[in-house]
Amino acid sequence: MSRLIVVSNRVNPPTGKGEESVGGLAMALAAALREYSGIWFGWSGKIAPEFTGQIQMQRTEGVTVATIDLEEADYQEYYNGFANKTLWPLCHYRIDLAEYDRAFGEGYDRVNCRFAETLRPLIEPDDIIWVHDYHLIPLGRELRRLGVKNRIGFFLHVPWPAHQLVATLPRHRELVQSLFDYDLVGFQTEENLQAFEEYVAAEVSGDKLSGGRLRAFGRTLKVGAFPIGIDAPEFAQIVRSPRARRMHDIMSAHTVFRSLIVGVDRLDYSKGLEERFLGFDRFLADNPDLRREVLMLQVAPVSREGVEAYQEIRARLDALSGRINGEYADMDWNPIRYVNRNYRRDELAGLYRAARVGLVTPLRDGMNLVAKEFIAAQNPDDPGVLVLSRFAGAAHQLKEALLVNPNSADEISEALKRALSMDQQERIRRWRALFENVSREDVTAWRDSFVHALADVKERRTALAS
Ligand code: ADP
Ligand code: F6P
Repeated sequence: MSRLIVVSNRVNPPTGKGEESVGGLAMALAAALREYSGIWFGWSGKIAPEFTGQIQMQRTEGVTVATIDLEEADYQEYYNGFANKTLWPLCHYRIDLAEYDRAFGEGYDRVNCRFAETLRPLIEPDDIIWVHDYHLIPLGRELRRLGVKNRIGFFLHVPWPAHQLVATLPRHRELVQSLFDYDLVGFQTEENLQAFEEYVAAEVSGDKLSGGRLRAFGRTLKVGAFPIGIDAPEFAQIVRSPRARRMHDIMSAHTVFRSLIVGVDRLDYSKGLEERFLGFDRFLADNPDLRREVLMLQVAPVSREGVEAYQEIRARLDALSGRINGEYADMDWNPIRYVNRNYRRDELAGLYRAARVGLVTPLRDGMNLVAKEFIAAQNPDDPGVLVLSRFAGAAHQLKEALLVNPNSADEISEALKRALSMDQQERIRRWRALFENVSREDVTAWRDSFVHALADVKERRTALAS
């Protein structure tokens, strides 16, 4: 079996089951790499006075983790800049927040070059290289420039937006062209894949060939939809752990005679937290008799604090949760509990299990693994109900959830009412179908389908010639 080299901006070494960690990508890759004796290469998360390209190697739980430090200009222009002020809002349909600054583009290209140059000496002839997410789109091109002939795949964790949105990005053709330096490019959903194909047809007169291939820029690229999943067997295990049980008991004790509604998200404007609070506000206004019957717990650890849009959403949520609590709270009850910290995964598992409703309402989301974790954590005999945004990638698989438009306070309010009054039989019926999907299309299935598709790509030179 070839060695697998995984490259991502964020690297979370697997330091043991249940440890705290945020971000779907890191959670999925930690699980995916556990079975491959591969290397996980990326940014250490640290800023050095200047970039040296020195690699720190660490071996944990069968995975070699290789990280590099970046320098301040990289952090500002590449991570905060092009990745999180330009591409992230664009991919999440927020072009009102997207900033186009030439320095960001230069920083993005520079860091992708630095990643390629530091990674190059670690690559052996048979290795399969798998690059992840919007931070590293041009990495394949940079590796090819350095003469790397290995199979290289790319997977986009965030949505690929509609053609007209991509076209708002300066130098969008160049960015898309760089994707054609990969052998395989994967998306979360068929919808994202179609949007990419439409862009290629409309913007660069590319052709769709048989066998899931596209031809443009004089190259042929294999493309596909590979919906990411969670490590379902591991999650089933941690939900039975002592810490998970303890968290479950604590939260159940806190909500005696009440139903717990839970949301768990990075504090990000794409997660629809403001709209979610307003939907809950509408529910409280519409259902005076149910007010004291519920507690909404929103866990939202701060994220990307160097980006103004994140500081602003944080301030708005502070104000909104305060306003709703001020309006409805009683001496012994607050409708919203809003917490900005990280928890261990086993604690989150216990929290999900104690909840009657999982409220997962992003305005746009590549997949959303929290929705899948919520399902995996439920008690099969008395499961909670998932209220899920139709704009999360997960909605394409989790069809038995209560699907809502996250922009509509009325739909959120109605779905909450329906979820809270749903009888046990219907809850069990819906949960079984959801759990079957979460277990079948899990992280192992995702990894294997991508890696097999990449390994199947004919010798690169042959493919180029065809
Ligand atoms: P994203 O990748 O955009 O953050 P996902 O829902 O796909 O969104 O993945 C989020 C991951 O981060 C999940 O595995 C979730 O359990 C984890 N996570 C989210 N919030 C917290 C938190 N407060 N503490 C610990 N882990 C968290
Ligand atoms: O899953 C989307 C994603 O952007 C990942 O690429 C990233 O690791 C995660 O969310 C968390 O964001 P960040 O790495 O910026 O903290």
